[in-house]
Amino acid sequence: MTAFSAEWLQLREGADQAARNSEIANAVSARFALRDAISVVDLGCGTGANLRATASLLPNRQLWRLIDSDPALLDAARIDLIRWADTALREGDELILRKGHADIRVSFSQLDLATDIERAFDGAPALITASALFDLVSETFIKTIARLCTERNAAFYTVLTYNGVQRWSPHRPADNQIASAFHRHQLGDKGFGPAAGPMAPSILADQFRLNGYTVLEGESYWVLGRNDRMLLEELQRGYAMAAAETGIVDAKTIEGWIKVQRSGAEVGHTDTFAAPA
Ligand SMILES: C[S@@+](CC[C@H](N)C(=O)[O-])C[C@H]1O[C@@H](n2cnc3c(N)ncnc32)[C@H](O)[C@@H]1O
Repeated sequence: MTAFSAEWLQLREGADQAARNSEIANAVSARFALRDAISVVDLGCGTGANLRATASLLPNRQLWRLIDSDPALLDAARIDLIRWADTALREGDELILRKGHADIRVSFSQLDLATDIERAFDGAPALITASALFDLVSETFIKTIARLCTERNAAFYTVLTYNGVQRWSPHRPADNQIASAFHRHQLGDKGFGPAAGPMAPSILADQFRLNGYTVLEGESYWVLGRNDRMLLEELQRGYAMAAAETGIVDAKTIEGWIKVQRSGAEVGHTDTFAAPA
């Protein structure tokens, strides 16, 4: 599995949904409760997990535009959304879904957000959303998003931004070394310039507040246990690979670290909702 493979995104979807902060979700729901309809753009949609988790918070008539740079993930999103919906129709490249009481029209755009972010705002969406994206982007990109949302009066809701917390059970002394290397890796360029990594939640909050938005933040930790064995193992493998790429931890330490069987882990994330005051 690679960092953004459909298999990895599908493996983490259940933990992501369980981790979402319900107070922040309620605030999103309350904000749009008086509307009949809403247009939403999902940045870095992957297989469409964010739509599946967010749709129930929004008014019944929803127009979603799912954006990703990876065409294979956009194809996987189509398939996973059809599976998820109660009913699904294809209309050209778009999907018309019914889920519970919601009527959801979905379009798909292949776009490199690092170079084409302004195009994500075509059609004046009321809500810009993303899941597990913002620790990958740069501080400059966050400033641009905050400015574009403000200029267009759009609300902003992003979930599951990694915030730097990781606790493994059982704990091993090398955990701290691996975590430091992982954080070094997190700050590397993921296509948007030097990444904000675990600083992303605080940069997001600062930038939206500077633009006069009201910002709410809440924790959305993964709390993984024995029933999450595959996810724990993939996580461990991913962290070890990232640590190895930095070259700051010796191979023997990494080899020993990856062999430790874990019964659980907590991984810290933050959900952020920012709306015009
Ligand atoms: C960690 S995944 C999250 C996917 C999905 N939001 C979820 O929660 O399952 C990050 C996503 O951002 C997309 N992505 C990364 N860089 C991108 C870019 N420059 N432009 C558009 N999408 C990008 C990846 O293809 C991937 O789908």
